[in-house]
Amino acid sequence: MNHHLLLIIHLICATIWVGGHLYVATIIIPSILKKRDAKRLLDFEKSFEPLGMPSLLILIITGVWMMYQYGVTFSDLFSFSTPIETAISLKVLFLLATVALAISAQSWVLPSVRKSPKRIPIVAGHVIMVALLGVALLTVGSFVSRGGL
Ligand code: HEM
Repeated sequence: MNHHLLLIIHLICATIWVGGHLYVATIIIPSILKKRDAKRLLDFEKSFEPLGMPSLLILIITGVWMMYQYGVTFSDLFSFSTPIETAISLKVLFLLATVALAISAQSWVLPSVRKSPKRIPIVAGHVIMVALLGVALLTVGSFVSRGGL
């Protein structure tokens, strides 16, 4: 597929993923921490998931596709030998951290916050970390077309 088209799809999905998490981190988290009631977060999470999860999946597919168009393969990753490969390897590390936090949230934090509001700060920490990782992924991504890191 044409690189520019892949980049446009990648950017639309990045907008959804990062925008959604920045909204939760700056608007919903302060409100649930104040009210000690996670319902607003759980409702948003439920309605965002059908858009957010496919966006993350498409980010990975288009990202890996563009990575190959830059001549970087999976076996090149984490050698930190060229500026472009270094930037993409950093993105993959941030992505793995995002996936680990998402698994932890889905399998442990969100189910437990439904039972006890004491867990709200833990879920808040997860969301803020995912939002910051999203901003990091976006920032590192912007360096690729400028020659890498
Ligand atoms: C949440 C996940 C991700 C976000 C938010 C994200 C965001 C971005 C953004 C904003 C750009 C900047 C494009 C530009 O300069 O116009 C970019 C570029 C890029 N991303 Fe991602 N990205 C993500 C995941 C990935 C993954 C998993 C890979 C590959 C393993 C990847 C590979 C790339 C590549 C190769 C570019 C350079 C495209 C170009 O400028 O030609 N991205 N990304």
